[in-house]
Amino acid sequence: MPTPNENGIWGQISNLARWTPSPHNTQPFRIRPTDDGRAELLCVCDRMLPEEDHGNLYLAAAFGTFAVGLELAAARCGHEISIEPASDIEPASLYQAGTHRVMGHAVLSPSGATHLLAEFLEPRRTSRLQYDGRRVDVRCIEGLTRVANEHGQRFLSYDDPTRVQWVLNTNTQAIIDNLQITNERQEIRQWYRRGATPETGDGLWQVPMNQSSWEMTSAFSTPWLLKLPGIRGFVGRRFLKTQDGTRGVGLLCGPFQTWPELYAAGRMLMEFWLEMARFDVYMHPYGSMLTNPRFAAAVAQKFGVKDAWLIFRFGYSEVPPRSPRLASLLMA
Ligand SMILES: Cc1cc2nc3c(=O)[nH]c(=O)nc-3n(C[C@H](O)[C@H](O)[C@H](O)COP(=O)(O)O)c2cc1C
Repeated sequence: MPTPNENGIWGQISNLARWTPSPHNTQPFRIRPTDDGRAELLCVCDRMLPEEDHGNLYLAAAFGTFAVGLELAAARCGHEISIEPASDIEPASLYQAGTHRVMGHAVLSPSGATHLLAEFLEPRRTSRLQYDGRRVDVRCIEGLTRVANEHGQRFLSYDDPTRVQWVLNTNTQAIIDNLQITNERQEIRQWYRRGATPETGDGLWQVPMNQSSWEMTSAFSTPWLLKLPGIRGFVGRRFLKTQDGTRGVGLLCGPFQTWPELYAAGRMLMEFWLEMARFDVYMHPYGSMLTNPRFAAAVAQKFGVKDAWLIFRFGYSEVPPRSPRLASLLMA
């Protein structure tokens, strides 16, 4: 295999595609160029979250998200990229694939085509800040509905205060309960980082997480304390305070089980999130609410849907602090 050339076309594409989001900012996917026009796309298996992400559903979907990130990055570099996902992926057993797993292949060709959403790769981000209380612009809601529908998914949007508050409260309870699940807590602990956010890196840093160092430390070192009613209430109120001003919540619903479904849903998610960025709207996904079967059942009952796979709050906030990215996604 040739040594990756950071200044070559694949290096330029990697440099932009890095801004694609991934659960817990694990950034699991790599580009292994075989020549100037072709590359293997791999998953680094120890960057999966098999304890929390049951069946590796979010991980598999994240590859679809990454594929769109690559396509838009390539468009910005004057190229078109054609991505063929591997046909033999079994999401549930991905974790046993060894150190790396080929998830797909990419073929590059020069092109003058541009894409409306490509310029939003960097401005798109998660906002865990307070929102400003405004309803999301109806044109944005229409755009998001269109993106979801084009991909065979449904976007449900709510702005009635009772339902919004229910989602915020329920997510807070889910986070506290999930911290009591030993194997899940140990898995995600590896991705939590304290201190000043570095220029390059991975994982969830306290500033973008909008949490203090002591909150993050105690959540992982003494999670049992959170079970005490007084402390649970205090911590829950502090967390909810960071989400003041939230006016809207949304659900994404649709097929989300098989590899083709997950790849397609992940592709949709990237376009959906970039469409938000186009309207200066941010979101804060609550993925860890639906990875807990008890809370997933509560969401299903509350909203009368059986196929929700992502729930989030969304709206307008100050520009959120940036989560770092690895310097490069190229692999030899
Ligand atoms: C499927 C999915 C689920 C996510 N779930 C959560 C979540 O439960 N809580 C949270 O704070 N962030 C969640 N995130 C946001 C990621 O942590 C975030 O995208 C990542 O840290 C990169 O940051 P950025 O979006 O600002 O670029 C989720 C992201 C994805 C793609």
